[in-house]
Amino acid sequence: MRLGTKDILTLAELTPEEFTSLIQNAITLKSELKAGKQSDVLKGKTMVMIFQKPSTRTRVSFETGMYQMGGHAINLSANDMQLSRGESIEDTARTLDRYADCIMARVYEHKTVEMLAEHSTIPVINGLSNTFHPCQTLADFMTIAEKQSTAGRLKIAWIGDGNNVCNSTIIGASLAGHAIAVATPKGFEPDDTTVSRAQRNIDVTLTTDPMVAATDADVIMTDTYSSIHNNKGTKRTEFFLPRYQVGQEIMDAADTDAIFMHCLPAKRGEEVTAQVIDGPSSVVWDEAENRLHAQKALLEALIAR
Ligand code: CP
Ligand code: NVA
Repeated sequence: MRLGTKDILTLAELTPEEFTSLIQNAITLKSELKAGKQSDVLKGKTMVMIFQKPSTRTRVSFETGMYQMGGHAINLSANDMQLSRGESIEDTARTLDRYADCIMARVYEHKTVEMLAEHSTIPVINGLSNTFHPCQTLADFMTIAEKQSTAGRLKIAWIGDGNNVCNSTIIGASLAGHAIAVATPKGFEPDDTTVSRAQRNIDVTLTTDPMVAATDADVIMTDTYSSIHNNKGTKRTEFFLPRYQVGQEIMDAADTDAIFMHCLPAKRGEEVTAQVIDGPSSVVWDEAENRLHAQKALLEALIAR
């Protein structure tokens, strides 16, 4: 499947069929890699990666993915670029457009990836903004498809901060046709527009009660209480602990075969107990691995020869 020069800023750019097809191809690429088979469909292609924020998984999985498919990735911290001396996002986009085949950017303001997309003709992939993390969600729904493939329509429970990963998970649930229940303290709810758009396709429950969200769920997800963009020094944990910590009680309320997911990095003892994240229901290492395969499928659909 080819997506052409589509930008992937939230995932809402995809149809449910495109989303499913990317996931299926990601699963195929994973098994081919494990069987020692690699293709060089990105030979001669270059992706520029711009990081305004730190990253382990996004940086390494994208760079490795480009390499495995015969392409090349250039990694730039925003500090290394003329951006740090005041060159505009628009002029940066116009310039990169003349060299590269694709831009992947991890930014603070979501508007920044929108501007990169608006002022270049090549695909722009959001590698996390303050409001969305589409690549994480692609990998997460690949993981759900692998682990819960026979279950059909599922219930996903998000417990904790209604943040960027939560917003993207709501879009992913809508594309996959699964129900989602989000439990947050008051004032930490996900993006209103994202919720109301998803509610046209699926059941989206917003609650302050983690047990309501967790009951009979097939997937329990959480993330750190403090994202990179949250001000350092603000004490957010007091709004969440102890009620919004994923521990055994929450896992026990979920379906017996429920899986625990977390985009990582995690803080054991805050949003999740060590018992759960290091326990038998946790699929977080497969989830992290799947960033590689899901993004390879995305890059192939966007820029393959
Ligand atoms: N999950 C995720 O995006 O991890 P990094 O911040 O390490 O890229
Ligand atoms: N919500 C987190 C995700 C990190 C991968 C953040 O934005 O920092």
